[in-house]
Amino acid sequence: MKDNTQNIIFGVLVGLPAMLIIWVFALYFFGCGTNNTCTGIPQPDRTPVPTLIAATLPAPKVGVEAIAAKPRCRVAAVDLIGAWIGAGFPETETFEFKDVKDQTCTATFADDVQKLFLEANLWYDGAPACTTCHYADVAKATKNMDLSSYTGILAGSNRVDGKPKGDDLLGGGNWQNALLYQVLYAPDGKTEINRPAMPLGRPANVPASGPVIAAGIPPLPDN
Ligand code: HEC
Repeated sequence: MKDNTQNIIFGVLVGLPAMLIIWVFALYFFGCGTNNTCTGIPQPDRTPVPTLIAATLPAPKVGVEAIAAKPRCRVAAVDLIGAWIGAGFPETETFEFKDVKDQTCTATFADDVQKLFLEANLWYDGAPACTTCHYADVAKATKNMDLSSYTGILAGSNRVDGKPKGDDLLGGGNWQNALLYQVLYAPDGKTEINRPAMPLGRPANVPASGPVIAAGIPPLPDN
């Protein structure tokens, strides 16, 4: 009886660790073989974990960029001002113009016309803005003319002593007669009235009707 208990205790103490060692060894041996490469046990087919996949579409644009990304029409600068004046030079309402593809596009003074007077580098690289010389302080501005605002443009030139009304620039709504047209339409840099083309200093290689710019919005496609 006593021997028996001793045998069981001995068996457990020695047998269990021995089995454990054999089991670990077997796992290692069958798993890794004898060359330690561990390819013996077939590996389960793993679903590949997707890594970052390169986006194929451009990221959607938001905010200011989204506005800039809207389709615009293209038109020569002088033709755009001409369409605005031909439509009765509206201050806030939209007006229509024909773009270079002969589509009827829609524009406004604030969004499309005004920048032709306010922006540098628009008529050509290095061009000063009209408002560099023709600015709001009409008493001092060149030709006593303010091209910085709608009212300034309508008030005209030669407003000596800052008087509210000067010489009409808009030909009374007839673009070809407008002084503005006469100084801006300049084939080979020369106006047809023998006065300097605007912006002052404009090189001869600027197209007669000025650069083609993005302006207005195209008509909705017919469905
Ligand atoms: C660097 C200064 C300067 C810039 C920039 C300039 N102008 Fe002039 N502008 C003048 C001068 C100087 C005259 C007078 C030219 C002359 O001797 O006939 C003039 C004359 C004019 C006249 C004739 C006014 C009148 O009653 O005789 C108009 C219209 C005009 N400019 C429009 C513009 C427009 C539009 C722009 C921008 C596209 C522009 N100017 C840019 C200097 C400038």
